Amino acid sequence: MPGVRIQGLSKRYGDVAAVEGLDLRVEPGELVALLGPSGCGKTTTLRLVAGFLKPETGEIWVGERCLSSPASVVPPERRRMAMIFQSYALWPHMTVNQNVAYGLRFTGTPKADRDRRVNDILKAVQLEGYGARYPGELSGGQQQRVAVARALVVEPEILLLDEPLSNLDANLREEMRFEIRRLHEQFAITTLYVTHDQAEAMVISDRVAVLQEGRVAQIGTAEELFQRPRTRFVAEFIGRTNLIDGVAEGTGVVARGRLRLRVAAVDLMPGAPVAVSIRPHQIELASRSATEWTTKCRSTTATSSCAWRARRRRACGSARRSARPSRPARAFPCRQAAASPASHRRARHPRGAPAAAVALAPAGPPAARTARTRRGGQGGSAPWTRSGRR
Ligand SMILES: Nc1ncnc2c1ncn2[C@@H]1O[C@H](COP(=O)(O)OP(=O)(O)OP(=O)(O)O)[C@@H](O)[C@H]1O
Ligand SMILES: [Mg+2]
Repeated sequence: MPGVRIQGLSKRYGDVAAVEGLDLRVEPGELVALLGPSGCGKTTTLRLVAGFLKPETGEIWVGERCLSSPASVVPPERRRMAMIFQSYALWPHMTVNQNVAYGLRFTGTPKADRDRRVNDILKAVQLEGYGARYPGELSGGQQQRVAVARALVVEPEILLLDEPLSNLDANLREEMRFEIRRLHEQFAITTLYVTHDQAEAMVISDRVAVLQEGRVAQIGTAEELFQRPRTRFVAEFIGRTNLIDGVAEGTGVVARGRLRLRVAAVDLMPGAPVAVSIRPHQIELASRSATEWTTKCRSTTATSSCAWRARRRRACGSARRSARPSRPARAFPCRQAAASPASHRRARHPRGAPAAAVALAPAGPPAARTARTRRGGQGGSAPWTRSGRR
């Protein structure tokens, strides 16, 4: 199974730069989600990969074959790719069997072989016995499975999916995420999966490419994006966060007024403006009288947002029972001691000790470069867990 390599890809519609210098590498057999806000160029990228559009600059390679460049574009039907659209695009006048077999008719596959492959693939998507029905006689989820079956039956080298679950209700959408992941693990086809749903991207994919204004802002596993965002945009787009503007004081320390934050960054220029990203679950509230600060990691769950976990601790004495501190509390992230999601080890610091956080060091415009967490503490309710898998 070949991988996909995209280099310097650009596509404009009049004045609009839909894709602008996009670089992306998908390893053989990998599923990469293209995630980003509406209008960031996800569909345009997919259409360029499929061969429906010609790039103005850049190249698209599949294995050793260059499929697109400004000079030449291999037509879609010769790319050994299959695409699944948001609308499924099933033929309403054809039965499920006929829809699924459609692509095989153009490959010269003998009828007996065609029937066997259609049966096998309908079994794989759990639609055995539905072959004689028409799309109008199926639920949304079943139609979606027919679209998946039709794409897989031609044994494509590359599978492209553009928001394939967005027409389904919330429950079915969640169920189908796991179904698509199961099929990916079964067939191991190199896949590009477009979505604007963070949780979906993180559950389904091996890696997520966050797109911003036509280019990849960052690519990585869900954990990497969540814990080590490289830009302010990624930090805010993935999960929830608090961004604190400050000034680098030197290696690993950021100042904001009287507050000193110890961060993982080692390449901060003293005096450079810096944005520090602190996830809500990394914050613990304590009173001024507290003598030590403690942080605690939560084990991961399948929820899609970060959970707030702010508690006053023992140092606050009886005030611990109170939901609000009697004096203004300082939010102070501590070094995260936990290396694994399930771990609940604690890190203790004397009062006022510097904290660990992710820093976003700007290069020119605010917050374009990144510094890293000194320790990769696992996020609280991380949106990428597959623990809800059925
Ligand atoms: N055929 C077209 N003609 C003109 N502009 C277009 C065309 N197709 C897309 N665009 C513009 O290109 C930009 C990127 O569009 P694209 O469809 O790739 O975004 P997207 O990330 O898929 O968004 P969404 O999540 O809303 O589907 C948008 O600004 C869009 O308006
Ligand atoms: Mg789109």
